[in-house]
Amino acid sequence: MPYQVIIPAAGQGKRMGAGKNKLLLTLEGVPILIHTLRVFEADAECSGIILAINPSDEQEFKSLLKEYGIHKVSSLVTGGKERQDSVYNGLRAVHSIDGVVLVHDAARPFIRLETIRNLVEAASKDGGAIVAVPVKDTIKKADDGRVAETVERSSLWSVQTPQAFRASVLLEAHNKAMREQFIGTDESSLVERIPHHVSIIEGDYDNIKLTTPEDLYFAEAILRKRKE
Ligand code: CTP
Ligand code: MG
Repeated sequence: MPYQVIIPAAGQGKRMGAGKNKLLLTLEGVPILIHTLRVFEADAECSGIILAINPSDEQEFKSLLKEYGIHKVSSLVTGGKERQDSVYNGLRAVHSIDGVVLVHDAARPFIRLETIRNLVEAASKDGGAIVAVPVKDTIKKADDGRVAETVERSSLWSVQTPQAFRASVLLEAHNKAMREQFIGTDESSLVERIPHHVSIIEGDYDNIKLTTPEDLYFAEAILRKRKE
């Protein structure tokens, strides 16, 4: 099943504290951005990558695409203030409103092809699907530094990307969010407000988002493990 993917890469990486976009940091000598792009470059079903970037990163990103032979980037769009704005700008570059569009954070380089397959299949059938893993920790609600409640864990999921939707559904969700000035932390939260059904595809715990400096240690370990 063919799909296009929007990859938001226009953040500043503040929590990583590298003094530059964290996607330029390297794992085994290769920039995080390239690790992520390679997954989609290698997937025959991926018909195009729409990359949302910061204008200040444009020259460097373009030369990395050339250096590492990434040919599937069909559009480079300017990112926005929030991640949601970057995705919206990417959405305007999608060419088929009837097709499936994925949104995947550039900062999650370890997504597996098999998960993408399952996700795309679910999204084309149901209109919307997300990758998630069951919550492992005990979760509590707090009030003023005190435990207010222990939340029943069996129905809780930690949500990752990619998230996949029929492009028309995602566009409707974004337009509604914009009209109502709603800012969500993922695409699904916008689609849920239509309201529209979103299915869960169980993914892997190692599909981590590289957010803070210690995540780089985990990332090196995941790469080593995959080479075994
Ligand atoms: N992103 C984006 N546009 C923004 C903010 C984020 O395209 N305005 C992208 C990031 O580049 C990243 C993904 O969205 O690939 C997930 O965001 P996050 O992990 O929060 O990255 P940053 O925003 O760069 O990091 P931080 O929040 O620590 O500054
Ligand atoms: Mg951010």
